[in-house]
Amino acid sequence: MKKLISLVVLALMPMTLLASSGGYPLDSANIDLTDKASLQRGARTFVNYCLNCHAASYVRYNKLVDDLGLSEAEVEQNLMFTSDKLGSQMKIAMTAEQAAGFFGTQPPDLSLIARAKKNGPDWLYTYLRTFYIDDSRPFGVNNMVFKDVGMPHVLWELQGTQKAVFKTETDEHGHEHQVFEHFEQVTPGTLSNVEYDDTVRDLVNFLAYIGEPVKLERQRLGIYVLIFLAFFLVIAYLMKKEFWKDIH
Ligand code: HEC
Repeated sequence: MKKLISLVVLALMPMTLLASSGGYPLDSANIDLTDKASLQRGARTFVNYCLNCHAASYVRYNKLVDDLGLSEAEVEQNLMFTSDKLGSQMKIAMTAEQAAGFFGTQPPDLSLIARAKKNGPDWLYTYLRTFYIDDSRPFGVNNMVFKDVGMPHVLWELQGTQKAVFKTETDEHGHEHQVFEHFEQVTPGTLSNVEYDDTVRDLVNFLAYIGEPVKLERQRLGIYVLIFLAFFLVIAYLMKKEFWKDIH
């Protein structure tokens, strides 16, 4: 029994280690892939604020018609630039060389970002809400979960600007560490804190959806498979009874 318990403890250990790594605790995004209104709002934020630098080249606009419950006209008017066709992919006009010139690095394609990161949605939700003023950085901001990030805080008008308050702690070896305490709003944004969190949640919902557009379909099919298996179990049991009835 003792052996069993230590095995279970060993098996669970990497998870707890992983969950606590990275320093800043991730906030839970609580997204809902079945919420089409949220996906629509997220798509609009994505197009307005991210698609100038980041492509989502695995996504074609006409896919959004079915999946987000929009009409073709709505997608054309709200989500597309005039040069795009409904069958186009979500690409950007900026070339890799231009990006390297502007940012020193290329903004990655965001099609799969919610799956590429560990705890993707929670990481993204936290990332987009924890930019803070840091005058030593090229764009004047730093980020809690992506230290020395090369991306400006593109949603600053909505969130406003905030600074991070750190306190200095000394560990048992006499080394000093900066420990984050809290954020302090410096200038207000056009949205309240709650509205801003909701906007980011919708955006992350959209990013999670494009990362795995068939997820809902897969879960729906999974339920049918389980119903079928339950039904088949009854048949199999009745058949077994029938086959064996003369033998016992
Ligand atoms: C002005 C251009 C620009 C805009 C607009 C922009 N980004 Fe970025 N983004 C960048 C650059 C440049 C990087 C690479 C930063 C680095 O590697 O240090 C980046 C990195 C990221 C990363 C980290 C990717 C990784 O692989 O770790 C995420 C996530 C991200 N952006 C999401 C967004 C979202 C969501 C939006 C829209 C709200 C957005 N970005 C708008 C330029 C931009």
